[in-house]
Amino acid sequence: MSNYNQELKDIKKSGYYRDRLIIQSPQESIIKINKKRYINFSSNNYLNLSNNKNIKRAIVSKIQKLGVGSGSSPLISGYTEEHHKLEKDLSKILNFESALVMNSGYLANVGLANAIAEKNIIIFQDRLNHNSIIEGTRLSTSKLIRYNHNSYADLEKKLANFKKYKKIIYTDSIFSMTGEITNIPILSSIAKKYDALLFVDDAHGFGVLREHENIFPSCLNFFHGKNLKIDAYIGTFGKAVGTFGSFVAGSKNLINFLVQKSKPYVYSTALPAALAGATRESIKLIMKTKTLNRTLKNNIHFFRKNATENKININESITPIQTITYGCPRKVKKIQNKAFENGLFIQAIRYPTVPKNKDLLRINLTSGHNLKQIEKLLNFLRYI
Ligand SMILES: Cc1ncc(COP(=O)(O)O)c(C=O)c1O
Repeated sequence: MSNYNQELKDIKKSGYYRDRLIIQSPQESIIKINKKRYINFSSNNYLNLSNNKNIKRAIVSKIQKLGVGSGSSPLISGYTEEHHKLEKDLSKILNFESALVMNSGYLANVGLANAIAEKNIIIFQDRLNHNSIIEGTRLSTSKLIRYNHNSYADLEKKLANFKKYKKIIYTDSIFSMTGEITNIPILSSIAKKYDALLFVDDAHGFGVLREHENIFPSCLNFFHGKNLKIDAYIGTFGKAVGTFGSFVAGSKNLINFLVQKSKPYVYSTALPAALAGATRESIKLIMKTKTLNRTLKNNIHFFRKNATENKININESITPIQTITYGCPRKVKKIQNKAFENGLFIQAIRYPTVPKNKDLLRINLTSGHNLKQIEKLLNFLRYI
């Protein structure tokens, strides 16, 4: 057993101790903490929908009709018409044969990696993949091999060493801690070349990436027309969609297989039906309200243009996740505290969420921010 008393002391000494803040307001561009107002640059609520009045109305009316809890797991009596309709909507907008609604993005990855696991399967993963993908594989019987971040040459070298095995390439589409977009067309052609499956976790791209306005935003939209072969697509509702839950999309057989074998699906109480209903409403709203993604894009452009002009050392990223690397947990925590004193809520991201000495400040932009709020952030970043 871990000596948690001692470990806690060690964590505190090392500068990696984490605290929770108590939020006293809805997730918006302004949040309340300790009765004070802060500009919120630490939310994945990219389209500012989590407090949207139409979605709130939808969930309230579904709760009135269907109740709050779902009562049991989906295979017992927790799977409702709302879940079914949501799955139909998802497979249609993303152009997959089938989809499975699950309880969170974390569980979707753990459930998928576990269900598919076999001793002679190797799962190849980018070093910066989200913890749920890495941990999901570690908990399975498959072998995990990590390739250097965004190094397709390293991936190919590793794939070539395991010709006789069944292979899966499993990746984030947008890396959650850097905001970079993975080159899915390259990964897709590597997967074809080495006869591997490709699984893509689009947690930060679903609802966000909108290059083609008439298609639902996602990494599939961003790389539209590039002849992608994706065998499993994972999305979450807790970020841009503004609700909660997740899904896996893929072939009919993959989804039917997950219904049999994905343990977090089979053995856990189903997502409340009202949440599935509200999520359908949110997806419809995103599809028809193109201004949400346009405003988000404008905010990203405004931030990056001004940051560069003011010589703020931002890392490369065209997504709402913008970062500045400081490489020292204490320094980045100090900056977070200073930002807080100045009315800005920005999170320091430290080891183990990022590798040691890569500690960074992560700024999440949303369509709910106005230019004045972003200017306040830029002014702060200029003088630290
Ligand atoms: C890439 C990625 N996948 C999965 C998740 C987990 O999703 P959820 O918050 O729905 O559990 C996250 C959360 O931050 C993520 O960044």
